[in-house]
Amino acid sequence: MPPRHFLTLADIDAETLETLLRRAAELRALHHDGSLHEPLRGRVLGMIFEKSSTRTRVSFEAGMAQLGGSALFLSPRDTQLGRGEPIEDTARVLSGMVDAVMIRTFDHSTVERFAGASRVPVINGLTDDHHPCQLLADLQTWQAHRGELQGRTVAWMGDGNNMCRSWMQAAEMMDFRLAIGAPSAYAPEDLADYPNSRHETDPQAAVEGADLVVTDVWASMGMEDERQTRLEDFAAYQVNEALMAAAGEQALFMHCLPAHRGEEVTADVIDGPRSVVWEEAENRLHAQKALLEWLVTPRR
Ligand code: CP
Ligand code: NVA
Repeated sequence: MPPRHFLTLADIDAETLETLLRRAAELRALHHDGSLHEPLRGRVLGMIFEKSSTRTRVSFEAGMAQLGGSALFLSPRDTQLGRGEPIEDTARVLSGMVDAVMIRTFDHSTVERFAGASRVPVINGLTDDHHPCQLLADLQTWQAHRGELQGRTVAWMGDGNNMCRSWMQAAEMMDFRLAIGAPSAYAPEDLADYPNSRHETDPQAAVEGADLVVTDVWASMGMEDERQTRLEDFAAYQVNEALMAAAGEQALFMHCLPAHRGEEVTADVIDGPRSVVWEEAENRLHAQKALLEWLVTPRR
């Protein structure tokens, strides 16, 4: 039987998503108790990073250790990937040696090609198009504070990037509305495929009635040369106290981090009482442990 992969949120069904989120909350409680839980003893996760990372690397590496296994950090600088070894050949070799592989890269097609040649589960640790592991943590954080997302409204302030697309997928799976606040040129190209999502050029209209306001860096990794243009184009979309006031008192604030205070968000919002960003970051650990338990344990 082919392995199951987690390349986008849509690779799991809504029921599995709920199961993983429940398990993530249980694993968080176990971790806070100091209890040991080591179902992946002897298992190894290979981690390929073609872009920088703090949270993803540490949460997967610490998560595997806490589950009783271990993780290998593989950079193109010191593997043959950086010298042109085909991704499929790398997948065939690694999947004979490790129990799962996490990849952070540029083109989404790279993780698809790797998964197509892999005998073990492949996890997307961020591509230009998706960041599904972050959504597991974000949804877990939402549930801990506010319960169900069904019927709620989330405002995404920023371009149609990897995080935005994972939020669009989540809106379909969990049946909530997503309002995307961005200049016209930055709306997601595939918006029409996501009926629960809409685009607003007016930032106030995007956040009106939102239960959660989310933002992210305006120039994602790989877009560094667009940074100056984007700073100007997105200036009116900054998440500040005035925008949070337009959302209403009920609204929480999330950011996948790293954050740029004074650009996409002001310090008073991200460091203020409605921000749940530190819990959101910690939940990367718990949500991915739930994912690893589910992907690695049953099929081997
Ligand atoms: N949010 C997130 O993925 O952070 P890193 O880039 O530090 O992994
Ligand atoms: N959209 C950002 C997310 C970083 C975790 C990026 O791709 O750089």
